[in-house]
Amino acid sequence: MKTQKLAIIGLGNVGSSVLATAVQTELFAEIVLIDPRNQVAFGEGLDQMHAGGLSSRKNITIYVGSYKDVADADIVIIAATHVYVNEEIPADRQALLTENLPIVHEIMGNISQHTQEAMLIFVTNPADTIIHVAASYNYPKNLLLSTGTMLDSSRLRQLLGQRYHVDPKSVSGYMMGEHGYAAFPALSHLTIGGIAYHELPTYFPELALLTAEEVKEEVVQAAYDVFDAKSGVTNVAVAQSAIDIARCVLLDEKSIYPVSTPMTDDEYGFTEKCAYSVPCILGKNGVEKKLLVTLNDWEKEKLAESVASIQKSIEL
Ligand code: 2OP
Repeated sequence: MKTQKLAIIGLGNVGSSVLATAVQTELFAEIVLIDPRNQVAFGEGLDQMHAGGLSSRKNITIYVGSYKDVADADIVIIAATHVYVNEEIPADRQALLTENLPIVHEIMGNISQHTQEAMLIFVTNPADTIIHVAASYNYPKNLLLSTGTMLDSSRLRQLLGQRYHVDPKSVSGYMMGEHGYAAFPALSHLTIGGIAYHELPTYFPELALLTAEEVKEEVVQAAYDVFDAKSGVTNVAVAQSAIDIARCVLLDEKSIYPVSTPMTDDEYGFTEKCAYSVPCILGKNGVEKKLLVTLNDWEKEKLAESVASIQKSIEL
């Protein structure tokens, strides 16, 4: 019987968090680690294997491999990024492109030679430009996505959950567009316990309704609260996002997550070819449907800003 196999490419702060989260979910029987720094991958794998003798842990095979090992992988999570040594990690995700572009070319060139069937989940930044580049390779487009604004959406739900003193999971809503400064909340589609955002003052009169711009700013800033406090690293929530997507695909859950995928001209009408996040139904066929939700004027303006920002980085 075929067991579920995960490949993780890039075992830095994010990749090692992906590994730790993947192990906890018990979704995978086999995890292969791929990183040009073999020693780093070896150490991360060995550390996880050492927990395998504890009763709370399922017995998982974890090993260091190479690109040929993605041939029978069900899921590939790509967390590879340039390693900044004695240099500050740029805060602007777009500034990571110069260094990460050749890395993504190398990864896609290799993966596409060995498989056309694995779900590829990118975490590498800048998320949207990376997906645009990855989509230029001969690989099924429905099996290619970035966590995109899925993480920002969790931050949005956390922010509003805290503000209204409810479980963030009772907040239904998402951020769209660029995974970056131009990400925006689609508040016209957000509900808390079924109550539309603009109707919240009726139920919570003690709380002023934040404007869409205020919500956007707080959510975008949330990444930097972590980034600054952890000296340039955010890894836990993005790793959980990637594993939630993996689970959804493996179990054919048909969950709706905002993820970044290559967009065409007839989707939202931008003539520039680009990738950005919209809510998508995910299942065993990867991205099964994009939900091109109706946007209000402010949201349309913000989506155009997202596209312009991503397009600028594509042209560089
Ligand atoms: C994040 O938003 C830095 O893209 C990463 O946490």
